[in-house]
Amino acid sequence: MEVIIQPTAGRAADLVAQLVAKWLREKPHLVLGLATGRTMENVYSRLVQMHRVEGLDFSLCRTFNLDEYIGLGEGSPFSYRHYMHQHLFRQVNIDLRNTYLPDGAAANLPAACRRYEDQIREFGGIDLQLLGIGAGGHIGFNEPLSALSSRTREKALTQTTLDQNGPLCGGDPKTMPRRALTMGVGTILEAERILLLATGASKAGILAKAIEGPITSMISATALQLHRSCRIVVDEDAAQKLEGKEYYRWLLQNEPEWAPYRDT
Ligand code: GLP
Repeated sequence: MEVIIQPTAGRAADLVAQLVAKWLREKPHLVLGLATGRTMENVYSRLVQMHRVEGLDFSLCRTFNLDEYIGLGEGSPFSYRHYMHQHLFRQVNIDLRNTYLPDGAAANLPAACRRYEDQIREFGGIDLQLLGIGAGGHIGFNEPLSALSSRTREKALTQTTLDQNGPLCGGDPKTMPRRALTMGVGTILEAERILLLATGASKAGILAKAIEGPITSMISATALQLHRSCRIVVDEDAAQKLEGKEYYRWLLQNEPEWAPYRDT
C-alpha cells in the first residue's frame, strides 16, 4: 500500500484524475472500476475537463461501477446510474453500451449479481478500480461483517451510511433506499490496481483505522492492506490522524519510484 498526501482536496483529486488519464492513454481498452459519492465528483469534473481540453478519449474504455441502490424507479435522480450520467458519461465520449452498473431493478437480484461478476470476468477483470471510503469505513457498500472474500451481492445499509448518503437521495429518510447491490470485497481485491481517494477532516479517523489498523471485516477498507498495488491519495485534512504520515511524506520526497508523483 502507498499513501500519497497532497496539500489540498483539489490537488488530491487532480492527482487521481491524472493517474486515471495516464492509464487510459496507455491502454485505451481500459476496464475501469468507478465509485460514486461527493469525493469522486471532483475527479470526474477533472476528467471531463481533460476530455474537452486535451481530447482524453473514453471511446474504447469499459466501466463497472461498484454499487447501485435497490428499489429506485427507472430514471430515478438518486440512482448511481443517474449520478454517473450527470458527472461523467454524458460529458465524455464514452459508449454507453460499455458502461455497467449492478442492476438494482432486476426481478432476480442474485442472478443479476452473478451476471455482473461474469461480465467483469468476460472483459478480463478490472484494470483500475477507483474507490472512496464511507464514514463507517466501507468500500462500495461493503458494510460491517462483509466477508473479505465476498462477491457482488445484496447488502442492507447501516444507519451511518443512511445518514451519510441521505442528503444525496433527497434527504427524506422514508424514500432513502435501505438496500443496495455492491461488488464484494473479494471482487474489489481482484482488480489489477486500486486507487482510493479520501479528503476532508471527517474521514481522518476512519482512514487511519483503514490504513494502519488491524484487518477486520468490520471495516471493509482494511482489506486493501492485502492488495499488492493499492494507492491511497489523501489531502492534509484526511491525513491528520495517520501515525506514519511523516514517513509517507519522506517516501514521496525521497524514493526514486515516487518521483512521478511529486509535482502532479
Ligand atoms: C457511497 C458509496 C461508496 C463511497 C462513499 C463515499 O457510500 N457507496 O462507494 O465510497 O459513498 O462518499 P463521499 O465521497 O460522499 O464521502
